[in-house]
Amino acid sequence: MNPLREGLSQERVPEPHVMVIFGASGDLTKRKLLPALYSLTRERLLPANFAVMGVARQDYTVEKFRENMREGCHRYARRRPVEDSVWAEFGRCIFYLPAEFDDLEAFKTLKTRLEEIDGQFGIPANRLFYFSTPPSVFPLIVENLGKVGLVSRQHQPWSRIIVEKPFGHDLQSAQTLNRQLKQVFRETQIYRIDHYLGKETVQNMLTFRFANGLFEPIWNQYHIHHVQITSAESLGMEGRGAYFEEAGILRDMVQNHLYQLLCLVGMEPPVSLDSSAIRDEKVKFLRSLRPIPADQFDKYVVRGQYGAGQVMGESVPGYRQEPGVNPDSTTETYVALRLMVDNWRWGNVPFFVRAAKRMPKKVTDISIKFRNAPYALFGQNQGASEVANVLTIRIQPDEGIILHFGSKVPGPSMDVAPVNMEFRYGTSFGKEPPEAYERLILDAMLGDSTLFIRDDETEVSWKFITGVHQMWAEQNLRKIPEHPAGTWGPREAEALPATRASEWRKP
Ligand SMILES: NC(=O)c1ccc[n+]([C@@H]2O[C@H](COP(=O)([O-])OP(=O)(O)OC[C@H]3O[C@@H](n4cnc5c(N)ncnc54)[C@H](OP(=O)(O)O)[C@@H]3O)[C@@H](O)[C@H]2O)c1
Repeated sequence: MNPLREGLSQERVPEPHVMVIFGASGDLTKRKLLPALYSLTRERLLPANFAVMGVARQDYTVEKFRENMREGCHRYARRRPVEDSVWAEFGRCIFYLPAEFDDLEAFKTLKTRLEEIDGQFGIPANRLFYFSTPPSVFPLIVENLGKVGLVSRQHQPWSRIIVEKPFGHDLQSAQTLNRQLKQVFRETQIYRIDHYLGKETVQNMLTFRFANGLFEPIWNQYHIHHVQITSAESLGMEGRGAYFEEAGILRDMVQNHLYQLLCLVGMEPPVSLDSSAIRDEKVKFLRSLRPIPADQFDKYVVRGQYGAGQVMGESVPGYRQEPGVNPDSTTETYVALRLMVDNWRWGNVPFFVRAAKRMPKKVTDISIKFRNAPYALFGQNQGASEVANVLTIRIQPDEGIILHFGSKVPGPSMDVAPVNMEFRYGTSFGKEPPEAYERLILDAMLGDSTLFIRDDETEVSWKFITGVHQMWAEQNLRKIPEHPAGTWGPREAEALPATRASEWRKP
């Protein structure tokens, strides 16, 4: 057996096709997409008849583009340095075409070039289009692809598109974008990407819940006190201030990544692993989120912004002092939500969700706090929170699952102290997981849309998030609570959990 294939189960190899990347001179292509394709080549997971066509405005030659991409793989691929033998195979499949996206003639040239590549590589006109550009140009690309007849709506040859986030900036723009894409593609051809769904730990949520008989019977309001989902980032704007001013953390993190985590924790068991079955359950869960009551808005949503402070011993500027940020900005860099789910499983169980920049550390995790024992036999109630049963699913860093429970302290008395039982990905399997983009690109090549977002899913999540933005707009907030960088958020957020038993964890 080829040593590169060892240990890979259920290998599937996609059909021959050309992957066309729009926005190929950008950061994402160099840092994520081409390194992912290189790794897939290295693992022998791509078809022998395969090519990549990069399209962007930069006037690169094919040689220059290949050189840039090799450098990208050299810096960012999972296994470095780049192996010459793998590159010799992969590099020769990479092509480039300079084009303006509003130039129909350029799309005609693209069609001709792709047909030549089909002939050269023996590819039956299958296409995977990747939109790695600013969303403002998505409609233009779709329209021109349609006009020059580059999109097949048939099963053979097939055409698919992967669309990068952000998918709209509110409900209306997401609906408009869905309509525009569907003028040329069928919904089943559209793969809206959220790279969180490519992470092993995130996929493991399904396995953990539905492959084990132990947890599902207690995964409900009778046993779970509350759920917390935290996405904390220690970094600030890193040059993305102008982008962030328009987005804010609610759009940038919650509408997409954290809502995906929320769905996987809260959804009902799907009837199968089929993409429709899983996505139906996610949408059903999102539909059962209770709209935030306007008259109690502050009890359900808190936003904040970081001021100057210290992160990991280093002095850092406040958000409004970051380049590209309005000095009077009210854009939120911190948001915390208390979400209630109106269904039988979760009635009265709050889901607390928070996302923020410039926190004391970088961590993304989900913690499920179980109800206390009905009677404090050991008198442990004074220290109830210390011996609470909490299941923590760590998404990053140190991916794994930790169960916190109370144990007897050795010695003559019956003292109870918290201890952990821990599973870590790194040590348990002894092999490195693929990068999220490797997994997701491969799935799209194979026509498996399970880990991509469906049209109704984007719209139902935007409906909720747009509701929050509208309430902020109505409140016309000129001031936003500020907290020093390097702390766990504004004081106002402490009141959201309302009781000591559900207070925010400090991961
Ligand atoms: N970078 C990331 O880590 C990341 C993560 C998640 C999502 N995303 C999303 O992925 C997409 C791409 O991000 P990025 O960071 O790669 O952006 P970027 O570095 O700004 O690259 C944008 C690309 O689009 C091309 N482009 C823009 N307007 C064009 C036009 N009118 N005609 C032709 N080409 C045009 C640019 O070509 P020229 O250089 O030739 O102008 C460039 O290749 C965005 O939607 C972003 O939100 C990025």
